[in-house]
Amino acid sequence: MVHLSQREQQLPGSAIESILDASAKDKRVISLGPGEPHFGLPPPLLAHARVLIATSNHYTAPSGLLELREAICKKLARDNKIHALPENVVVTTGSQEALLIATAISLDVSEEILLPNPSYMAFLPTIELFNAKPRFFALHEEHDFEPNPDEIKKQINQKTRVILLNSPANPTGNVIRRKIMEEIADIAVEKDLAVFSDEAYERITYERKHISMASLNGMQDRTFTFQSFSKTFAMCGFRLGYVAAPEEAAAAIRKTHLYTTICAPTLSQKLGIKALQLPHKYTDSMVREYARGRKLVHSRLNNMGLTTPLPHGAFYAFSNVKHLNKSSTQFALDLFRKEKVAVIPGSDFGTNGEGHIRVSFATELSLIKEALDRMERFTNR
Ligand SMILES: Cc1ncc(COP(=O)(O)O)c(C=O)c1O
Repeated sequence: MVHLSQREQQLPGSAIESILDASAKDKRVISLGPGEPHFGLPPPLLAHARVLIATSNHYTAPSGLLELREAICKKLARDNKIHALPENVVVTTGSQEALLIATAISLDVSEEILLPNPSYMAFLPTIELFNAKPRFFALHEEHDFEPNPDEIKKQINQKTRVILLNSPANPTGNVIRRKIMEEIADIAVEKDLAVFSDEAYERITYERKHISMASLNGMQDRTFTFQSFSKTFAMCGFRLGYVAAPEEAAAAIRKTHLYTTICAPTLSQKLGIKALQLPHKYTDSMVREYARGRKLVHSRLNNMGLTTPLPHGAFYAFSNVKHLNKSSTQFALDLFRKEKVAVIPGSDFGTNGEGHIRVSFATELSLIKEALDRMERFTNR
């Protein structure tokens, strides 16, 4: 018999998996579940990838190709006002691997990291894998799910090492405003904490502007900035992300990276260099398309009685279904069975996600319309 560790057995399963599995098998299903762009690769990248295959069969250094890290530094300075050197950057197999390694090098057993509830479903298991201790600060619908610095401060104790933030946020679509960022930065400085800043959706914002924590005065010395090629360039499957961190931390991440995946895929790294040379128009046109979906989803969900704050970034709406008197998982399962629409139950994102569903608008507009018609029929019943 196979022995499974207790750690593995305690990792949460997610409802997302079974719903997305079932929706892939049934052509009648419209999925508003996806956490990734529905667009193909920008055409210049597709053409270039073909050429790169032949020279991409070797490993790179664990930190990633120097040319790519130099391009990332330029991008960080231009777009994020972060002034990093190639030594500060480690290229990883998706930004998720960077988060995993950063957790490994920052937290000893039972040391604490503060994270939002609800938040991206990978955060908590990542922390638990290293037997570090998660401590949550609640996000509230009436405040657009924006973190409250006072609530963060209340959770800090002797064992706290890191504050984790995600803006633009999955699953709520919130984008943290500068004033709130600054207040959280002050707390991090006062309590001498690191900040993990997950910026996977940095390029997908609407009327609010994305602010990088590391761009704030003095914060670069304590901030780990996680960014990704997945959403900005529709490159999810290439698994390419990176972290920019203080030099000592970057060296530690580099060291551990050798023992996780050695290096990010070489083909993806080379393609990443090309992606960073693309004019902004490719990402901008994706964002314009998301903006159409956002408008439609936001107004229709509210009109059908599912209270939904306007998402300021990413491609998710987070809707309240509490008045229907069923759990978010039951809502998602019933909607799936009766109307063949897949959404993600809010409980997958933490206890405070309960009573909500995540509706992704990274889907073709005509399908979004049809899915919303079906949802309206379902909620009217
Ligand atoms: C908030 C957040 N962070 C990180 C990731 C992982 O991104 P990557 O593809 O760079 O590993 C995701 C993916 O959906 C995400 O939603």
